[in-house]
Amino acid sequence: MSKKMSIMISVILLITMLLVACSPDKTPADAGAPASKDLKLTIYAGLMEDHAMMAVKEFEKATGVKTNFVRMSSGETLARIRAEKDNMSASIWYGGPVDAYIAAIEEGLLVPYKSPNAEKFPDKYKDSEGYWTGIYSGYLGFVLDKEWFEEKKYDIPTSWEDLLKPEFKGQIVTAHPGSSGTAYTMLATTIQLKGEDEGFDYLQKLNGQIRQYTKSGTAPGRMVGLKEIPIGITFLHDAIKYRKEGFKDIVISAPIEGTGYEIGGVAILANGPDQEAAKLFVDWALTKEAQELGSVVDSFQFLTNPDAVPPQEAMELKDTKLIDYDFDWAGKNRADLIEKFNNVTKTSPPTE
Ligand code: F6P
Repeated sequence: MSKKMSIMISVILLITMLLVACSPDKTPADAGAPASKDLKLTIYAGLMEDHAMMAVKEFEKATGVKTNFVRMSSGETLARIRAEKDNMSASIWYGGPVDAYIAAIEEGLLVPYKSPNAEKFPDKYKDSEGYWTGIYSGYLGFVLDKEWFEEKKYDIPTSWEDLLKPEFKGQIVTAHPGSSGTAYTMLATTIQLKGEDEGFDYLQKLNGQIRQYTKSGTAPGRMVGLKEIPIGITFLHDAIKYRKEGFKDIVISAPIEGTGYEIGGVAILANGPDQEAAKLFVDWALTKEAQELGSVVDSFQFLTNPDAVPPQEAMELKDTKLIDYDFDWAGKNRADLIEKFNNVTKTSPPTE
């Protein structure tokens, strides 16, 4: 082969490789959108109400699939799909930490789907068998009322241990891990950081500091914003949302020992009535465009599509010290850890 010829072949190979690497996401139009106009879809959504509402509207616009959703916290969704196992009314689970999805796989409640759009996602953002795919990631921490700390002349908590200070007794709100994916992330983080004995000992002491366990993981941030309570444990992107939307006294901090994080997922429910529409939805939810929509309604999670531009607001969190959170372990041990939590704290998930 002449030198010129081999250069030409190398150039063609390089261009082909570049084209594959930059391949755009498969859109619903590629999947034959006109036929999708006859489809319908029900979603169980774990993201905030405004985010889910906008996503559904945009998905409908892109595909014509008539779509509705019910917003529930992770534990509620898991309980609902367990109860509906043989008569599932929804076909998609959209948002909320994947720990609960992993628990659902164990019970046969999800079906695998490997969307072509997930091919370029890093492995850590997708289940190897396709049962779930990550759509965002968010970090756990403390949401605080600056004014209260200034008035009291207290230092803001910067570690898990700080939350046990006597002056914070009765001043902390967190969600309950039985209902909330946020709070389950905290429970699993504590056990991963400290081990079972020390971890549950800590959670029992922390229980003595807690004024209220809420059902949803986003409630503590809102309560701090409204000055109903000075300290909340929450995903920090939610605290940033509340601050941006007017609760100016909100400040945040992340524990110096390291903190846990979520990968928010999307998955198809087993026995869901609208499997075809469900696949279209997963394809759509993984696109750069769908992921970037979040910031329009102040959802500031980091994104999982490598081409999607994360919200500027998330950059405030980029140096947060994270633990090497084990999602598989957290998902498979969910029921056991929650039962132990309920026992040591003598609590159960709130219904309201
Ligand atoms: O949409 C906000 C959010 O914090 C998500 O990032 C997260 O996956 C979800 O809410 C957790 O909600 P909950 O703790 O109520 O299950």
